[in-house]
Amino acid sequence: MSESAAIPLLSEKSVLITGCSSGIGYCVAKGLQARGYRVFATARKPEDVAQLQREGLESCRLDLTDSASIRLALDWVLEKTGGTLYALFNNGAYGQPGAVEDLPREALREQFETNLFGWHELTTLVIPVMRRQGYGRIIQNSSVLGFVAMKYRGAYNASKYALEGLSDTLRLELKGSGIHIVLVEPGPILSRFRDNAYQQYQRHIQPCHSPHRFAYLSMEARLQKPGPAVPFTQGPEAVLHAVLHALESKRPKLRYYVTFPTHLFALLRRILPFRWLDEILGKV
Ligand SMILES: NC(=O)c1ccc[n+]([C@@H]2O[C@H](COP(=O)([O-])OP(=O)(O)OC[C@H]3O[C@@H](n4cnc5c(N)ncnc54)[C@H](OP(=O)(O)O)[C@@H]3O)[C@@H](O)[C@H]2O)c1
Repeated sequence: MSESAAIPLLSEKSVLITGCSSGIGYCVAKGLQARGYRVFATARKPEDVAQLQREGLESCRLDLTDSASIRLALDWVLEKTGGTLYALFNNGAYGQPGAVEDLPREALREQFETNLFGWHELTTLVIPVMRRQGYGRIIQNSSVLGFVAMKYRGAYNASKYALEGLSDTLRLELKGSGIHIVLVEPGPILSRFRDNAYQQYQRHIQPCHSPHRFAYLSMEARLQKPGPAVPFTQGPEAVLHAVLHALESKRPKLRYYVTFPTHLFALLRRILPFRWLDEILGKV
């Protein structure tokens, strides 16, 4: 079936979003609803689901670490849409800070449970729905840290690099199915990301025993700093613009670079020898 023959009108287009309690997920949910999409805005905590419902969004619980909750959420969406789904915006995630040598196995495991395995499970459940209908868009909220590394972000880097690998493979495998796989790669975006990362840092990293303890002091200050922590930080609307293009373009891009740092590092990665790039990244 050709995609143009099958896709529904904007008002009937349904989009399932994960991680809508704050930041990018919240902004994209509100923005798409205002644009006329039928948005299913999911969140991990019941109180956030209740808040989203009070704000007029269709919402239910979806915890990416919990397979049953992933299934229940998708069943609920499909029941409401008559078994169809135009798009999935995989978004809910967090950053586990800490030097690679200080990461307990459990911290890395938890990082992958949320940022990769949950996304993968939901995606594999959505693909048969989209295959049946002959169209669909799966938009993966990756990161600039999905293609360049930075110190003390090893767990997060690894989860986003893995996401990029799975997404690139999936796109090759889904060619001709009418399903588009899109990666969005934001740089610094204002959200609750750093607050949430700081909590994970406190849970899993023991700075006093680490050879990186002095570097952790400035990292702690950065994670606790209110407002933008680095130059070129943008609001979450910057990601909304990319998502809108990915949803509405006949030929969505494979990758959307969002913020100046993403454009810059994508260019540097292409043109610089690896060693020179390491020099720069080591100083960021
Ligand atoms: N902010 C940035 O600079 C930046 C840059 C590049 C990419 N990103 C990506 O953007 C996405 C959204 O992050 P954000 O910046 O908007 O940060 P955020 O404000 O911290 O939002 C993260 C969302 O993910 C949810 N989440 C965490 N664990 C979850 C789980 N197990 N199941 C379901 N949802 C879960 C959080 O829910 P709770 O409130 O319940 O924890 C929250 O709703 C992430 O994929 C992140 O990697 C962010």
